[in-house]
Amino acid sequence: MTRRCVCPGSYDPVTLGHVDAIRRAASLFDEVVVAVLHNPAKQGVFTPDERRALIEDALGDLPGVSVEVFGGRLLVDVCREVGADVVVKGLRSDTDFAYELPMALMNRHLTGVETVFLPGEPSLAHVSSSLVKEVARYGGDVSGLVTDRVRDELAARLTPR
Ligand code: PNS
Repeated sequence: MTRRCVCPGSYDPVTLGHVDAIRRAASLFDEVVVAVLHNPAKQGVFTPDERRALIEDALGDLPGVSVEVFGGRLLVDVCREVGADVVVKGLRSDTDFAYELPMALMNRHLTGVETVFLPGEPSLAHVSSSLVKEVARYGGDVSGLVTDRVRDELAARLTPR
């Protein structure tokens, strides 16, 4: 039986913390679907397709991993559509846990989908998409927190000229 999981997120943009969690999910499951779940009401820095391209670039050709965009959908419906009964998420802190736990319980309530939490790599515990964007917006250096391509794209879009 093929074990498939979903790694969901906004990924605006993907960080090296996300990459670490996805790589580790790929070592635990036969197939990983990285689901870019964008909220159509929220304007991001990157379009959903740009986010997908940046994730694909960051992961290289990791076997068994695919990246797909799903707009305005429940995560449990995405899981059903791709045939996954497990969600995998990285946790950086107890604050993350407090945010993720109700969603994990709600998802299990809705369809029985389980959530597996992976402890985040400690050296990346301070890395989030929103903080990376804020640092880049004011011209700070985000090298080592995101891929070089994401760093360069953020600088091109956000750095004041
Ligand atoms: O990277 P993020 O912003 O922490 O990801 C949050 C995300 C996209 C995984 C979450 O908001 C989500 O699952 N959205 C899809 C809509 C949904 O299913 N909402 C109910 C969750 S209980």
